[in-house]
Amino acid sequence: MRIFVYPGSFDPVTNGHLDIIERAAKICDKLIVAVLINRNKSPVFTVEERVSFLKEVLDGKPNIEIATFSGLLVDFMKKKGANTIIKGLRAVSDFEYEFQMALLNKNLDENIETLFMMTGINYSYLSSSAVRELASHRGNIRDLVPDIIIERIYKKYEENRG
Ligand code: COA
Repeated sequence: MRIFVYPGSFDPVTNGHLDIIERAAKICDKLIVAVLINRNKSPVFTVEERVSFLKEVLDGKPNIEIATFSGLLVDFMKKKGANTIIKGLRAVSDFEYEFQMALLNKNLDENIETLFMMTGINYSYLSSSAVRELASHRGNIRDLVPDIIIERIYKKYEENRG
């Protein structure tokens, strides 16, 4: 069984992530969307919120699982019986960082392969931080994130403002 893992912060999930998720799910038996718990930059959305956005958006997709992980990605993959990492490449600027991560992961476990998918042209400029910046000023995020999570994103910033 081909199990792929699509790891990330998903702070929050964007339409660019969804594009990769939907395309990747077609070329494997099971796709695990793996949400990172611990990281250096502190996320705006809690891990529970990030997972619940993904669950809402991916509801009913039969071969997609949503999981959380902390620690090394390769260790999580071993536990899940997966050996392929899927990553999206948006622009040349992503390449150097992704290249380094792929080599580090290969160095940690030679059975791990990293597959890169070109992000859809409409999403090449998109990032979670752009969505956060817009949402924090109540800017328009329609078409950047799935419709069903838009209000929850705005609400978070309203709560943060008190
Ligand atoms: N569409 C839209 N945005 C995308 C995208 C796409 N297709 N692909 C990536 N992005 C954006 C994200 O939105 C995010 O934007 P932001 O920085 O503005 O918030 C940015 O690219 C980075 O993505 P992120 O999800 O933070 O992932 P990452 O590429 O930094 O890597 C892990 C995250 C989980 C893969 C990595 O940190 C990891 O493996 N950590 C575990 C420890 C480990 O094993 N390290 C590797 C060996 S040392």
